[in-house]
Amino acid sequence: MILMRLCLSLTIGAFQQQNDPKNEYLGISQQHACELLERLHEVNPRFAYYLFRDACNMEAFPSLPEFSKWQKKVAGSFHFLLGEPLNTEKTTVLDLSAGSSFSAKSEGMSLEAQQEFLDTYLREKNAEIGVGKYLEARSFYAADEFVNDSLDGHEKRTIHLGIDICVPAGTVIYAPIKGVVHQIQDNKSELDYGPTVILKHQPEDGPVFYTLYGHLSRECLKQLKTGQIVSGGTALAKIGDSNENGGWLPHVHFQIILDLFDYDGNYPGVALPSRKKVWCSICPDPGMMLGLGSESTAEEIDSGQLLNRRRNVFGQSLSLSYQEPLIIVRGQGQSLIDSKGQFYLDCVNNVAHVGHSHPDIAKAQSNQAYVLNTNTRYLNPVNIEYAERLCGLFPEPLNTCFLVCSGSEANELALRIAGTVNGQKDMIVLEEAYHGNTKANIDISPYKHNGPGGTGPPEWVHQIPMPYLYRGLYRDPATAGKLYADEVLKICEKLFGQGKKPAAFICESMLGCGGHVPLPDGFLKQSYQHVRQYGGLCIADEVQVGFGRAGKHFWSFELQDVVPDIVTLGKPIGNGHPLGAVITTQKIAKEFANGMEYFNTFGGNQVSCSVGMAVLDIMENEGLQQNALETGSWLKEKLEMLKNVFPLIGDVRGEGLFLGVELVLDPETREPAPLQADYLVERLKSRKILLSTEGPGHNVLKFKPPMVFNHSDAQHLLVELQQVLRESPMQKNLKA
Ligand SMILES: Cc1ncc(COP(=O)(O)O)c(C=O)c1O
Repeated sequence: MILMRLCLSLTIGAFQQQNDPKNEYLGISQQHACELLERLHEVNPRFAYYLFRDACNMEAFPSLPEFSKWQKKVAGSFHFLLGEPLNTEKTTVLDLSAGSSFSAKSEGMSLEAQQEFLDTYLREKNAEIGVGKYLEARSFYAADEFVNDSLDGHEKRTIHLGIDICVPAGTVIYAPIKGVVHQIQDNKSELDYGPTVILKHQPEDGPVFYTLYGHLSRECLKQLKTGQIVSGGTALAKIGDSNENGGWLPHVHFQIILDLFDYDGNYPGVALPSRKKVWCSICPDPGMMLGLGSESTAEEIDSGQLLNRRRNVFGQSLSLSYQEPLIIVRGQGQSLIDSKGQFYLDCVNNVAHVGHSHPDIAKAQSNQAYVLNTNTRYLNPVNIEYAERLCGLFPEPLNTCFLVCSGSEANELALRIAGTVNGQKDMIVLEEAYHGNTKANIDISPYKHNGPGGTGPPEWVHQIPMPYLYRGLYRDPATAGKLYADEVLKICEKLFGQGKKPAAFICESMLGCGGHVPLPDGFLKQSYQHVRQYGGLCIADEVQVGFGRAGKHFWSFELQDVVPDIVTLGKPIGNGHPLGAVITTQKIAKEFANGMEYFNTFGGNQVSCSVGMAVLDIMENEGLQQNALETGSWLKEKLEMLKNVFPLIGDVRGEGLFLGVELVLDPETREPAPLQADYLVERLKSRKILLSTEGPGHNVLKFKPPMVFNHSDAQHLLVELQQVLRESPMQKNLKA
């Protein structure tokens, strides 16, 4: 009916257009209707029927209850698939879900190594047979054919509709019940089934159904004939090896099918998560037929329940992203993976600097954890070597370091050092700056103390306007640097008038929470001159923007051609491991050593240092700073081009892989467009791209992905971004 309705629309439209060719309106929906028709044409009408039944809260496949009743009745009579029962100690269930360490560790290994890994696992469990679960959401179906692209977004088929039995190649499998060979086919594509047999069963007292056996050895293609009757318990085929089974470890994929649709010799073994309920009605749980219990069926994480548990156990001030929060169970490179095995391109996580869950980081961490993890009260080469290597990345005289556990701790210590060295307390900070979550850091963070729940700055904190070329007080690039630095000077002079000096001036080398704002030329240079002239120290907060993110330089303060007195580091330094550092000069460190010991229980521990070292190694080995420069510059250029197409884009700014895209309702007035920004972020999430907003107007898309974000990721982001920018809600209230 739907198809006919669309056909009618198309033909009526075409007819009317023929009579009135100048009337463009008559053809306005033709293209979309045509596309929809093509897409719907591919949907089997019976599948559509099951979908509708499901949507009406009915059992999707009408005869499922009949099948289940029959299966229960004959449950004890099924022959064993391997000729022996599976529910013994020889069998163990494998966790191959998206969030399992088994999957994470074995992916990327050669097949030989994977086999060794599986064998070791089975040995440890005293088992010989591994079982892969029904309805498990897996992240390793990587081929394009697993991706479904619709208006609503990209979704990958990840829900396993069969049960895998992992046993050596050559193992004989037996028909669990009498049937007829219905289809045999070699599904040769990489990651497909390889040789596959589908049996048709017509029990006297039950409905017709099919069983599928995938990843078999090629022999069966010759030995079995379509139409051949196979009695229950007879040898059907052997398990194939990796060269013939689609490139997997040897196993058989066993699946029950109640409707074969028009498939011929192949059949989906994994389903889209959004269609899970329909598919598990068509392909019911094969566990009972295999003599397995409920342990071979994967349980889905209940997001509502998890949310309630979180609300009950965590403080309310912790926020969650997105209207419908994501359940993230794994990270991999530039992707985060949810509990349904769906990959999200992570464009915001600058902590996972060298990529999420980088195996070299995991190894460095684990190897050192086996050996030693203690504090800095003993001589040990690991932390010294790391400190030397880290300090070696700075210009002289920045050659001395304190290792801490977070960016907040680094800034706390920097404040303490400044106060001790010059005996002063007053701080000069930037409007909208954020420096960390401790009390002192909130005091110096206008983003927090002037924001919701804040109580304003203490009297020792002095704020200058944000040096923001697009929206700030001074907008002429030729003079803005000096004029904003003059604001710093004014505070120094005011303090001088009160007989005080600034303890320090703290400034991020590019502004994060302020809305990804690069500093105007000359701003830091002149500000540092003023502060130093009045006896204060200059602190560069590189917690967000250090470690090559800016592309052109390893440290973002180098963009401003300055050398700070103190640099604070966090986030990317440990790729997610709690690590931070304060880098300063030998002279300042000496003056700080006034008799009071600085002790940090965890700062400088060997495990953290090994992780920090691995981050530096990976950056070098994988050329990540260069990637930030090349990919970031290319993306920025393309985003700037989009600015000409979409008036909603008011400003594109930043360096390397630290970019900001500011959305405005009107390019002239620059009125912020926070609703559009929110819509865009939510829509991109449904299209499997993670971005978020920043800035005082909540209208800046912040872009600071893991540094392994590459050219094809950037291309993908641009395509998706444009798609959403064209959607009608983005045009609402647009005053261009
Ligand atoms: C610029 C800046 N400094 C310091 C911090 C504090 O770092 P952490 O949260 O690791 O303590 C942050 C955190 O977002 C930050 O953005």
